[in-house]
Amino acid sequence: MRSLMATPTGWRRDGNLPAELTSFVGRTRLLANLKRHLGESRLVTVTGIGGVGKSRTVLRLAHQVRGLYPDGVWFADLARLQDAGMVRHTIASALGIADQSSRAESETLSEWVGDRDMLLIIDTCEHLVEGCAELVHELLEAAPNLKVLATSRQSLHLPYEQVVPVPPLQVPDDDPMENLFTNESVQLFTARAVAVQPDFVLDEDNINAVAELCRRLDGIPLAIELAAVRLRALSVEQILGLLADRFSLLAGASRTALPRHQTLRAAIGWSHELCEPAERLLWARLSVFAGDFELDAARFVCSDERLPSEDITDLVTGLVEKSILLIRSNHAGVRYKLIDTLAEYGEEWLDKLGQSQVMRHKHLQYYLSLATRSEDAWSGPRQIYWFIRMRQEHDNVRLALEHALRTPGETLMALTLLSSLWFMWVCCGFVREGRLYLERALEANPGVSKERCKALWVLSYVRSAQGDSVGALEAAEACSTEAVRVGDSRAVILASKMQGTAALLQGDLQKASALLGVAIEFNTDNKELNPGLLPAIVELSLVLSAQGEVYEAESLLQDCLQVCRERGELWVGSYAQWAMSLTKLATGRPDEALHSAREGLRVKRHFHDTLGTLLALETTARICVARDQDRVAAVLLGALHQNWKTAGLPMLGAPFLTTDHDQCVKECQKSLGEKAYWAAFEEGGRLDLDEASALALGDLDAPEDPTG
Ligand SMILES: Nc1ncnc2c1ncn2[C@@H]1O[C@H](COP(=O)(O)OP(=O)(O)OP(=O)(O)O)[C@@H](O)[C@H]1O
Ligand SMILES: [Mg+2]
Repeated sequence: MRSLMATPTGWRRDGNLPAELTSFVGRTRLLANLKRHLGESRLVTVTGIGGVGKSRTVLRLAHQVRGLYPDGVWFADLARLQDAGMVRHTIASALGIADQSSRAESETLSEWVGDRDMLLIIDTCEHLVEGCAELVHELLEAAPNLKVLATSRQSLHLPYEQVVPVPPLQVPDDDPMENLFTNESVQLFTARAVAVQPDFVLDEDNINAVAELCRRLDGIPLAIELAAVRLRALSVEQILGLLADRFSLLAGASRTALPRHQTLRAAIGWSHELCEPAERLLWARLSVFAGDFELDAARFVCSDERLPSEDITDLVTGLVEKSILLIRSNHAGVRYKLIDTLAEYGEEWLDKLGQSQVMRHKHLQYYLSLATRSEDAWSGPRQIYWFIRMRQEHDNVRLALEHALRTPGETLMALTLLSSLWFMWVCCGFVREGRLYLERALEANPGVSKERCKALWVLSYVRSAQGDSVGALEAAEACSTEAVRVGDSRAVILASKMQGTAALLQGDLQKASALLGVAIEFNTDNKELNPGLLPAIVELSLVLSAQGEVYEAESLLQDCLQVCRERGELWVGSYAQWAMSLTKLATGRPDEALHSAREGLRVKRHFHDTLGTLLALETTARICVARDQDRVAAVLLGALHQNWKTAGLPMLGAPFLTTDHDQCVKECQKSLGEKAYWAAFEEGGRLDLDEASALALGDLDAPEDPTG
């Protein structure tokens, strides 16, 4: 099961469980057992052969027990992950952890889990057992209230691990006293049969055939589901007959029963043969997607002269009808997904056809062109749409990147893909991931090129967002040098902008003002608002404010906001609002400042803009002190202290922010008194970023003051 995006638009405390899409059958005893083991043990691993129902059972359990975990039940799916080095990142990302800081990911992850009382489900570990075991061990040591539930075809081999095997469903005759009609396998078959043939009824006439079929399929849920699909064209007896022929052929003359994994394999093979040749080919080709995909993507990636793109829609529908593809619709549209075991089968088939490389290349091309479109559209009115869209494609983008990075001749495409997505890394809270990939991609493309220049300024931006001003400067300078060599004037301007940003973070206001000024000056044709012009204006206003030229700053910001409004640009607009709240505060207008800070915060909630949220909350705390709301300020400061830890270098290490922060703490302590201050601070430490934002927005009351 693909992890639905953890938190595409925010930070949630209750977890990220995917919905259950089909009815669930039986397993009462197994579920009770699992609950008991979870009560007694901190690591429970559910094992069993492919298609036996590990993921599904665990998901059912998760829905049943979610109330027991105050900090939520979280679901991370590793099924299509190939790179062991990305395990941590995938889990952190499923938890919706801000991916900001330049510290080691393990530290951030353990720290985030901290003493949260939560259940983490890691689905499909078998291909990455070592990496998973190491990580799980580390997390359990660091986080006393964490429980982990893993599914894997093999155990994690940790000494305290409780392994619970998932057997196939009960089949008729397992228990001679059992009523055939209530047998688990029979019930699953019936439930799926009704879905394909609404007038299907289980009765005395067909019960024996159904029972025999379930026995033949060894009670393996996936095999049963695949067989039930055949009811569209065949009767139960016919299915049974065909299956029996096939199995006896496979098992050879001895007619001994097939081992279970062979049963499944045979059931899949059978489904495969019953597909039209074109459907079969599409099935194989669709295995290049990570998790789910949209129809357009399938049309582009999988079509050629053998599979014309106008046929893809019907073929996809055919595969959905045959239960090969799952269909998922949400507010953002309809998406499809190959069932895990079937994706593996498709991948092998694609390899045999010798088409893997071609398909992966097209997959990369598709996401590259999508990324380019998203970049072009970023400064316009559909920013939130593009954020959500690219967030949904995150797994596919990662897969495309991995492919490009390890394929000679395609590494330059990795560089382009990464650079186009600068807004994902910088604006939407995936700084660390962006940095990791950019550094790898630059290393893989050492020759000077325009592509490299762009990647270098993006890298500089990313490092700035982590508060790594030294690294940012280094990348910006490299960009500048190389851009001159290839004659890329746009990159030269952007390099100045990024150098200016780094200088601002280092507190070198004069240098910052000169460089940002250059970037603005040379960008006056207004064509490219992001990330050269508008962010440069906001940053220049910060420089001016820090130099005491507050009114100049404010007038710059007003112009900037005007442009943002005209273009429908929200993200820079939210920064401009924040910067505006600083100037208003500095000129003794705390109420207006609060208004601006809130305007900014409200927008940031739509993106995953951790950094921007933290900065806006810092200012809100200062505003609260100015408005004599010291207790709220102290609660916010506590929340900030806690949330900066996992999000990055506090205040980005910038002197102009740090001085204000320290001043705010001092004043707040003075007016509240040490004892009340620390009590409120501690309360705040329990708030996550979303709750702290709600408090700042006035949507949440400050926690009760225990001291009265
Ligand atoms: N108890 C059940 N009730 C209804 N459907 C089930 C049940 N158990 C499994 N299924 C269905 O059977 C199919 C295979 O199950 P699932 O994906 O959980 O297997 P798995 O053991 O996780 O396989 P893999 O090793 O490939 O990950 C799914 O479509 C699932 O919804
Ligand atoms: Mg599974």
